[in-house]
Amino acid sequence: MSREFIPAAKPIIGDEERAAVDAVMASGMVVQGPQVAAFEEEFSSQVVAGVHCVAVNSGTSAQHLATLASKLESKAGGTPEVIVPSFTFAATGNSVAITGARPVFADIDPVTFTLDPESVEAAITDNTVAIEVVHLYGLPANMGAIMEIADRHGLAVFEDCAQAHGAAINGKPVGTFGAWGSFSFYPTKNMTTLEGGMVSTADAELARRVRLLRNQGMEKQYANELVGLNNRMTDVAAAVGRVQLKKLDEWTERRRANATALDAGLAAVPGVLTPAVPDGYRHVYHQYTIRLEGASGAERDAAQSALREEWQVGTGVYYPIPNHRLESLAPYAEGVELPNTELVARECLSLPVHPSLSQADLDRIVQAVAAVVKAGA
Ligand SMILES: Cc1ncc(COP(=O)(O)O)c(C=O)c1O
Repeated sequence: MSREFIPAAKPIIGDEERAAVDAVMASGMVVQGPQVAAFEEEFSSQVVAGVHCVAVNSGTSAQHLATLASKLESKAGGTPEVIVPSFTFAATGNSVAITGARPVFADIDPVTFTLDPESVEAAITDNTVAIEVVHLYGLPANMGAIMEIADRHGLAVFEDCAQAHGAAINGKPVGTFGAWGSFSFYPTKNMTTLEGGMVSTADAELARRVRLLRNQGMEKQYANELVGLNNRMTDVAAAVGRVQLKKLDEWTERRRANATALDAGLAAVPGVLTPAVPDGYRHVYHQYTIRLEGASGAERDAAQSALREEWQVGTGVYYPIPNHRLESLAPYAEGVELPNTELVARECLSLPVHPSLSQADLDRIVQAVAAVVKAGA
């Protein structure tokens, strides 16, 4: 039987976005201008409860510039250390390392996939200056415990919100807990500007420094105050972002409804662990990630192939190699052992959850996972 392939992700970019791009092109004002300013304001009020927002050209730039703007310095005089998860996209550790600070990898909770507070506490040294959480897959990290540890040790908290637009704990949005949050607008994210990113912060001075850093250290033209870069967002990208922002809430509700349907279908499948959401946490399901309990990496990869070949269901593995074992970041991780990270890297599999799925798609995904897991058992 020929079936249409269900992709793991499907960016939705339509006529309204095209019209917005055309209008900016016709205006002649294409780089950082009025669209960027309006996008910052709208993102601020819709997503991060009105705190300052600074738009840049990628999620990586957002966390890079915010880290630079944080002026990390260890009171003990050594290289400043930022505790990060290893189970994330490499941008998290990269954006720390590229500033000259040291990413220190901590383990995750294997149920929520986010930083394990106990592992974070064990990684603190005299040179630790900050903890950077990742709200992975769209689920907020355990901010109650993380903020308590940070307060007790006098550490800053940074939030990688690249996958978590609109996620919240008891109504408080991610990107408003720590010193700053960074968002990504890469095409597969919950909303896109093609490439793009945003820094959120309640600290006006930090926001100002990020604005300077994204534009050669200039606020007033040619009166450069500090050494900066060019990480500006274009007005074309911002115009796309403004259209997407209007649809974000509806898309998020569809992701959440799709997740509920997958939960219901997969709950009774032996060997499949569905995502857990702590009480009061709003998960925005950038990914719907299951664990194939007890699978080796090769078994998980075989399940992924079978889903694609036999059922035409696309899936993703985020992430097969934990950051502390990447050639690039391993030099920061000598002797580091992260058993939960290793376990989840072997067992994780992200199923389609994007807003374009039909009921028939959801039914096929459930049926396919159940059949593939049973065949592999
Ligand atoms: C967890 C995480 N952090 C950071 C980034 C970096 O964002 P970008 O690709 O927009 O630079 C991503 C995006 O892929 C991500 O998933």
